[in-house]
Amino acid sequence: MKNKIISFPKILDDRGNLSFIENDTHIPFEIERAYWIYDVPGGEVRGGHAYKELQEVIIALSGSFDVAIDDGKGREQVYNLNRSYEGLYVPGMTWRQIRHFSTNSVALILASLPYKEKDYIYNYNEYIKVKNEQHNM
Ligand code: TYD
Repeated sequence: MKNKIISFPKILDDRGNLSFIENDTHIPFEIERAYWIYDVPGGEVRGGHAYKELQEVIIALSGSFDVAIDDGKGREQVYNLNRSYEGLYVPGMTWRQIRHFSTNSVALILASLPYKEKDYIYNYNEYIKVKNEQHNM
């Protein structure tokens, strides 16, 4: 499955709105880990790597930020996330950066794997190489 925006259920209420997520129903993988990024100083960039296997859903729980996706074909797609009831699904082998965090924004990331340093590709040229090898298989 390609990267895409997923909408979560939204229970509108005068007392405040509520959204929720269940494994398998709203997320196209089993959630093994959740982490969040917060207190990001203005102008900072997080991410800037790919995962070999890990799939993720990125949610702007509060505020807004941009997720820049590079599929290895020289195209960059930028998603501005600013709704707590939407998430961006990102498959494995995707180069991604998170940037332009608004003040007090919180990025929640649901991941298909526990933290594994070996799953990271930190070098862009290596990412392109592995991606091309996969295409040619
Ligand atoms: P990293 O994923 O490299 O952050 P980013 O790509 O957003 O810049 O993680 C930063 C540090 O945090 C790194 O030393 C590993 C650690 N870390 C964990 O221990 N567990 C986790 O679940 C994550 C996401 C990071």
